[in-house]
Amino acid sequence: MRRNPVKSRYKRVLLKLSGEALQGPVKNLSIDPEVTAAVAQRIKTAAQLGAQIAIVIGGGNIFRGGSGQALGIDRNTGDYMGMLATTINALALQDALEKAGVITRVQTAIEMKEIAEPFIRRRAIRHLEKGRVVIFGGGTGNPYFTTDSAAALRANEIGADVLMKATKVDGVYTDDPLKNPKARRYSSISFRQALRDGLKVMDSAAFALCMDNGIPIVVFDFFKKGNIARVLRGEPVGTRVHNA
Ligand code: GTP
Repeated sequence: MRRNPVKSRYKRVLLKLSGEALQGPVKNLSIDPEVTAAVAQRIKTAAQLGAQIAIVIGGGNIFRGGSGQALGIDRNTGDYMGMLATTINALALQDALEKAGVITRVQTAIEMKEIAEPFIRRRAIRHLEKGRVVIFGGGTGNPYFTTDSAAALRANEIGADVLMKATKVDGVYTDDPLKNPKARRYSSISFRQALRDGLKVMDSAAFALCMDNGIPIVVFDFFKKGNIARVLRGEPVGTRVHNA
């Protein structure tokens, strides 16, 4: 793959995408092929900066554990359905990335060998070292965890230098920016302060895993083109949460 002269600040990153990232403006498509292809292009551009990229993708565009409960589905069952949804997204993203010429491997937290490799930490690291983008499907493989937690877990396991949380908002605010027009975005904040001020960065399990092990989190607006690459270059994008 062509490498860009402006190098990545990070050697290895874990990119957390929400399943909605694959959804287009056409509401009845859970996975919009054009949108997915565009996402793949952005990841390709980011990979060209030289970082090793691992991805955890959510499943909310297809199924959410919570919406299962609303339908009367048992919480555990709903969460397993959500894990399958993340695997569908992982395969869709793999397909789009490979069409864009990016070599990928999918590993799943729940074994489904005919579909993808099972998650093997050392093997995932080897794939990354070889320049392959590794997509982790199936969340943590356990109910009662979110894909944010899966992202934090995998980031720790693979020794990522940063967890990049791609989302709809461009960072962490002093207050809800939709409700309070005076809310201010932090460019950088310590885990301790975020915890003290009750700021929502990721769910508490994911937050604790990163804080306890010193993995910084960058929360940034995924929908702004070029942002993944900007984060990798170390440009001041979104909010960086770190151990002070
Ligand atoms: P190296 O050992 O570094 O060469 O990695 P590799 O992934 O190329 O080696 P391997 O021969 O193990 O894999 C070849 C292809 O088979 C890759 O696309 C893997 O993702 C896929 N693969 C490997 N193990 C499994 C598995 O258990 N299930 C599925 N479905 N595919 C697998």
